[in-house]
Amino acid sequence: MAKQKTQYFCQNCGVSSPKWVGKCSACGEWNTFVEEIVVKKTKNSEITGTTEKQKPELISDIDFKVEQRIDTKNEEFNRVLGGGLIHGSLVLIGGEPGIGKSTLVLQVALNMNVKTLYISGEESPQQLKLRAERINADTKNCYVLSEVLLENIFTHINNLKPDIVVIDSIQTVQTDKIESSPGSVSQIKECTASILRVAKQKNIPFLLIGHINKEGSIAGPKVLEHIVDTVLQFEGDRSFMYRILRATKNRFGSTSEIGIFEMKNDGLREISNPSELLMSQGDEDLSGKSISASIEGVRPFLIEVQALVSSAAYGTPQRSSTGFDAKRLNMLLAVLEKRAGFRLSTKDVFLNIAGGIKVNDPAIDLAVISSILSSDLDIAISKNICFAGEVGLSGEIRPVNRIEQRIAEAQKLGFKQIYISKYNKKSMVATQFNIDIKYVGKVEEVFRQMFA
Ligand code: TYD
Ligand code: MG
Repeated sequence: MAKQKTQYFCQNCGVSSPKWVGKCSACGEWNTFVEEIVVKKTKNSEITGTTEKQKPELISDIDFKVEQRIDTKNEEFNRVLGGGLIHGSLVLIGGEPGIGKSTLVLQVALNMNVKTLYISGEESPQQLKLRAERINADTKNCYVLSEVLLENIFTHINNLKPDIVVIDSIQTVQTDKIESSPGSVSQIKECTASILRVAKQKNIPFLLIGHINKEGSIAGPKVLEHIVDTVLQFEGDRSFMYRILRATKNRFGSTSEIGIFEMKNDGLREISNPSELLMSQGDEDLSGKSISASIEGVRPFLIEVQALVSSAAYGTPQRSSTGFDAKRLNMLLAVLEKRAGFRLSTKDVFLNIAGGIKVNDPAIDLAVISSILSSDLDIAISKNICFAGEVGLSGEIRPVNRIEQRIAEAQKLGFKQIYISKYNKKSMVATQFNIDIKYVGKVEEVFRQMFA
């Protein structure tokens, strides 16, 4: 028998090498090379059989229909997908174990009430049934299958002709064309490529669930993310009940949209009004709390920032932040120190974004510094005030985008006053609002107006 040919593959980026190496020359990761058996492809090793011959066409001759989107009956899920599921598309959903990927996908599939094939390599049909019962949705149209071999999966798809296919998870699927173990780079790559061909040929959307690695990105080769049409990340702190779905890649929509869910006893509930959830409901005014008018995607919402500033117990003060970039926090502290004369270098500073969500919107800066000042001075900020502004290195309050939407949201939720950058003034019509708008240009002004 001929000796089996093996090669080493980087499990992070998929690069191959004939010998084991400690550091990947392509992605720079250490200790990621694993030996895998490679099987030379013969001419007709294409897993799905021969594909029809395609000819080049003139772009002007191509028949164009506005891509029909399938309504998933789940507003948050639709939003993240860019308005619905596209026929024949491949959607990859990644997230930490136990975050609720299987729940989300099963729930969406059940609610759509179209012929679904749910293939699980991780759970038995009984376990899936148990989950379906918890979710308590109509289960008439959903077929489940415990299978890991891709060839068998395709046979079942051919026979059943489902409208939508779920694969939980892509790391458990394997093809017998390749001998390496399931979850390895070559298996994932080959299986996903075959799935893509089937999806496009049969025009069936596939929802793939993917595991993530310790850095938080989807496990397996980077090419996996290139092959699929949409990559969604399901995240959230496990101790919090909120879950956020965001697109990191989307061929059919924007990647700035987020979907917010709450994990309940009977599945995931859509949160269509996030502001209520992201602000604590307490009635008293407490120091160290401030509200920011933020935007994620196209949706404005108000979010609570909490800070605690106290004298450092040890020599080196601690700085810690949850949901907000720690480097940015350090920068804002330096700005406060330099521009507003606050002695924060001997203080511990803790910052927390309520609800366990991560915010990338720079407009939250103004609320962050206000909450820090409020905690440091131990003066509460009235709960009728909110903020929207970016803070620059020289202490200037910079304008932020879509200021009118932010103000409108603040007004809608009953705020009486909003602090924004004075440079936003000329780009908006202030008279349409009946909320008191305070224009500020510098950090010192905020400090003087609020705490004087
Ligand atoms: P699961 O979907 O299995 O997570 P994943 O597929 O991402 O690993 O769900 C994990 C958690 O969700 C589990 O710990 C229990 C919880 N859960 C609920 O709180 N309510 C529910 O209705 C369901 C189905 C799960
Ligand atoms: Mg699961």
